[in-house]
Amino acid sequence: MACPYAGNGSLHDDTATPLGTEIGMIYGEYLMLDKVLSSQRMLSVVDNRPVHDEHLFIVTHQAYELWFKQIIFELDSIREMLNIEDLEESKTLEILKRLNRIVLILKLLVDQVPILETMTPLDFMDFRTYLAPASGFQSLQFRLIENKLGVKSDQRVKYNQKYSEAFGNESAAMDAIQKSENEPSMLDLIQKWLERTPGLETDGFNFWAKFQASAEKFLDQQVQTAMQEPVEAARNYHLMDIEKRREVYRSIFDRDVHEALVSRGDRRFSYKALQGAIMITFYRDEPRFSQPHQMLTLLMDIDSLITKWRYNHVIMVQRMIGSQQLGTGGSSGYQYLRSTLSDRYKVFLDLFNLSTFLIPRDAIPPLDVSMRKELIN
Ligand code: HEM
Repeated sequence: MACPYAGNGSLHDDTATPLGTEIGMIYGEYLMLDKVLSSQRMLSVVDNRPVHDEHLFIVTHQAYELWFKQIIFELDSIREMLNIEDLEESKTLEILKRLNRIVLILKLLVDQVPILETMTPLDFMDFRTYLAPASGFQSLQFRLIENKLGVKSDQRVKYNQKYSEAFGNESAAMDAIQKSENEPSMLDLIQKWLERTPGLETDGFNFWAKFQASAEKFLDQQVQTAMQEPVEAARNYHLMDIEKRREVYRSIFDRDVHEALVSRGDRRFSYKALQGAIMITFYRDEPRFSQPHQMLTLLMDIDSLITKWRYNHVIMVQRMIGSQQLGTGGSSGYQYLRSTLSDRYKVFLDLFNLSTFLIPRDAIPPLDVSMRKELIN
């Protein structure tokens, strides 16, 4: 094999060694390409009825699985770094770097879908029978990514096959699934970290009390403005709108309402974690909150990109098998996959909904001297 690096004589001046061959061999050995590149077994070829597009189908899935592996590698390392009380700044930088890497990989995975869509449904039909009962539903790594991020089993769409049972007798896979369900997920660890946000202490800056007072003042001012509206219908409309907003704020200031939303699955964060996330969003321009704010943005990016992948995948599935055919894994196919597009699968749902509770910049409670000092360091 010709070596891609041949010609760079500075490192290998020993003319006795056949340069290209030696480096070429090391390259292949290092990457174990003998295994990787001989793992595209086309069942249509084995059956003596070769279908050209089966090669693309296999390579695409393998490429996904390799990137899934890298995502898991990054996720595990981030969870380990987050799993300590005092997160040093150097660690936060590394976490940001790795989260950003996951985001870029996911972007690639979303963009990869159209390549497989160059295969037509008829081409797919030519080899689909060889696959069954294999299905992406049995992708262990996909399930591990979901679990490690924090998708809870009771949030999942139910269908005739249990997620854990998809792996049959493979005890190593079952153990990995169980472990990923029991160990702290990104969601758990991020919550603990948010709960420690400086400024939440009720005997200190007490952000929450200040925010509540500001939100109430802001709504009262809006009522005063609405009352000046001369047209009665328009005035009533504004007042009704403000009352609706008051209810929205009640859902965060009244702890019982918040807990009820959590138990219904409409909210994920603990009461204190939600406070931390809102505080970081308001004061993100303060030096100490700049990195935490980037972290929250990247977590939302991860959720959005996985949702975009689900969407692209479901559109591809409809194009390939329509909406009435069962999947090779035994689900209702398109219908099942479409139901996984809902908010139930958004791990950091609360971060997306933070915008609901924002107040104008000039209504945000000002930082006092000691809080400002704390956020500079
Ligand atoms: C022709 C292309 C494809 C078709 C027709 C297809 C079809 C399906 C169907 C019908 C399901 C539902 C489960 C079942 O009953 O089988 C499914 C699930 C799944 N597929 Fe695909 N798929 C395709 C390509 C891919 C690719 C390239 C990947 C990349 C890894 C993938 C990953 C998955 C995953 C992870 C699930 C489980 C999703 C979940 O349960 O939320 N699929 N696929």
